[in-house]
Amino acid sequence: MRLKHCINFHDFRELARRRLPSPIFNYIDGAADDETTYRRNSSAFEECDLVPNVLAGVEKVDLSVKVLGQRLEVPFYCSPTALQRLFHHQGERAVAHAVQKFGTMFGVSSLGTVSLEEISSDFSFPQIYQFYFHKDRGLNRDMLERAKGAGVRIMMLTVDSITGGNRERDLRTGFSIPLRLTLEGLVQFAIKPKWAFDYLTHERFRLPQLEQHVQMAGGATSISDYFTNMLDPSMNWRDVAEMVKQWNGKFCLKGVMSVDDAKRAIDIGCSGIVISNHGGRQLDGSRSSFDQLAEIVEAVGDKIEVLLDGGVRRGTHVLKALPLGARAVGLGRYYLFPLAAAGQAGVERALELMRAEIERDMKLMGCRSVAQLSRSNLRFRNSSHREQGEP
Ligand SMILES: Cc1cc2nc3c(=O)[nH]c(=O)nc-3n(C[C@H](O)[C@H](O)[C@H](O)COP(=O)(O)O)c2cc1C
Repeated sequence: MRLKHCINFHDFRELARRRLPSPIFNYIDGAADDETTYRRNSSAFEECDLVPNVLAGVEKVDLSVKVLGQRLEVPFYCSPTALQRLFHHQGERAVAHAVQKFGTMFGVSSLGTVSLEEISSDFSFPQIYQFYFHKDRGLNRDMLERAKGAGVRIMMLTVDSITGGNRERDLRTGFSIPLRLTLEGLVQFAIKPKWAFDYLTHERFRLPQLEQHVQMAGGATSISDYFTNMLDPSMNWRDVAEMVKQWNGKFCLKGVMSVDDAKRAIDIGCSGIVISNHGGRQLDGSRSSFDQLAEIVEAVGDKIEVLLDGGVRRGTHVLKALPLGARAVGLGRYYLFPLAAAGQAGVERALELMRAEIERDMKLMGCRSVAQLSRSNLRFRNSSHREQGEP
């Protein structure tokens, strides 16, 4: 199987599975506990049917959207994800090239492996910086100033990771950073020598957003120590209100799932929220992002911009989220498996397939622009949506 044979998410996932040592594949593919939320994130889209209109004159289709003050050529963006150079030696650079090509935006993670300064100096797309809240308030302030200095346009604070999720696949393989593998995990690395060759013959693995503050070299601290010892589980709305003030620009909370929290985000001056459960990697049993979308948009959609991520694998998933009021939709594993499978060429192929699916499906829906997609194009099978006044 090669890149040219990949025509959908499942193919990229399979190619990544064949190329990665299994502890790394399972780190990407895995989620918390029984992975119920992970599965539900995608299957929730199947509870919603599309109702097309025809004869609408759709030779040209405009896929652009405006979100958080930025114009995107396509209604999807690449969500922030950690450790990308571990998946493929090009890491964030590959994703950034693809994002630039498709005119969208990209979130560099606090646990990113290329510096936010490098990405903002080499690329012109709207950069998001994904932030975790530390116990050390001075460190938080310094990081915000650093991001501002680098030209980051959108600050995205992840609020669903107050403690690490229970990723049982990682417990079994011993996956951690630095790597402390079980014997079985080590064997899995030994049988994927190409990955090991690429990893060892390229620039040293780093976490440049954190390395001034956290000593990970020589195994001094692991990412799980970082979560346990440095992040602040007492973080509350007052703390975040201060950050929003200090940032004084577009500020987004990633990981909001309830109407009450969405309202509080408005009260403290946030510009946006991302409805997200971290791809099912944190609280298993949490409702799917798509299932929460209508309820949240109905309550606050005219006062704050609502984005969504989780389980998006198809153009039709995007076409179901937009009429319910999502301004844009975040992709996670959808671009990570292609990255792992084939670097920049993989991410570009995956984003092109997503763009083409959305364009084709908009034509089939009889819509020339995203604004023309409306709730009248959707029907829910599940009665709870109808009770909430859904069509
Ligand atoms: C391997 C991996 C690493 C991730 N790292 C981060 C991260 O560093 N910060 C963050 O806010 N979200 C992180 N996420 C969550 C994504 O931003 C996004 O919410 C999630 O992947 C969406 O679900 P999906 O992958 O099913 O599309 C990560 C997700 C994956 C799969």
